[in-house]
Amino acid sequence: MFTHPDFDGHESVTWLQDPGTGLRAVIAVHSTALGPGMGGCRVWTYADAAEGLTDALRLSRGMSLKNAMADLPLGGGKAVIFGPLPGPGTARSAAFRAFGRAVAGLGGRYVTAEDVGVGVADMAAVAQETGFVSGLAQSGDAVGGDPSPFTALGVLRGIEAAVARRFGRTDLAGCHVAVQGVGNVGGALCRLLAERGARLTLADADSARALALAAELGAVTTDPGVILETPADVFAPCALGGVLTMQSVGRLGAAVVAGAANNQIWDEAAGAALAARGVTYVPDYVINAGGIIAVGAEYLGGQTRADVLAAVEAIGPRVGALLDRAQADGVRVDLLADRMALEKIAAARHGG
Ligand code: NAI
Repeated sequence: MFTHPDFDGHESVTWLQDPGTGLRAVIAVHSTALGPGMGGCRVWTYADAAEGLTDALRLSRGMSLKNAMADLPLGGGKAVIFGPLPGPGTARSAAFRAFGRAVAGLGGRYVTAEDVGVGVADMAAVAQETGFVSGLAQSGDAVGGDPSPFTALGVLRGIEAAVARRFGRTDLAGCHVAVQGVGNVGGALCRLLAERGARLTLADADSARALALAAELGAVTTDPGVILETPADVFAPCALGGVLTMQSVGRLGAAVVAGAANNQIWDEAAGAALAARGVTYVPDYVINAGGIIAVGAEYLGGQTRADVLAAVEAIGPRVGALLDRAQADGVRVDLLADRMALEKIAAARHGG
């Protein structure tokens, strides 16, 4: 474990197996230097346990960097549950309650919320077992619930900032955005983009979902296998991570890459290739922080909806400042973001 290529100094990695429900999961806590390790829980069907572990480690580290860059008093952690899980019903709730008991056992070092394949009802089941959970249904004007709309708003602001820098444009009217994955975040993002007059090409592994949204918004769809190379102004990856590889970067059809997916850059070689191609890349964990800002506020308390929206809106200027600084310093923007985030974490570690 300690020599795993993605281990990167994780504070803890917990494997779970619940005999009663068959739940199998791993909870990775990368850092609690800035606060409790907070990050969502993903349900995914991995080829094997090793693939799930790699995902958990990469996502957990990403949460440390994301929370640090968003100036949240939170560390980084992430959980993956080995799917498939049953659909809504007692068996699924029981699995999430078992997961909740394991989260409780970590004593607040990890706080969970939704990620891919997990919904508000699942978090409600977790909340029956532990208070170290967020993303719960809220009534009235209370802060919280599904983080996706906040993530989508932050991504929109990040796209605007990147487009302003790359193309000198102050609005998105007529700007062509190719969106990969139109689920909770990608779908909400498409609606925000359409409201601003952007031209959309959509692709989703679930073609019916892409077709329905395209009909609603007057957009076109394409095959998920070619969305990355679709000639466009912006490519917005909103499906899963690892889409930017050394091979795929060479096929990119857009000059700007800005989207919600976590861990878009597969490895160092892909990051270098992206920069060599002159792509304006917006670091994923900077642009997609809207959701954690919202669920973090729900967990930490003391903030109004207006406070949360203001913090999500601030993603635009943050992305702009980051792109400007990378250009001024002549450095890769993804490496600059990593360095800034790691410095904040190190300062907290030494201060605390
Ligand atoms: P989701 O599960 O609602 O949507 C993902 C969509 O991508 C689905 O419609 C799925 O069919 C599609 N998809 C999967 N593989 C695909 C492929 N190869 N090509 C095209 N489409 C594909 O997930 P959600 O919540 O929208 O998250 C999307 C991404 O954003 C994930 O990487 C997630 O980790 C990240 N993210 C989500 C946040 C949130 O607030 N939900 C917060 C920060 C990051």
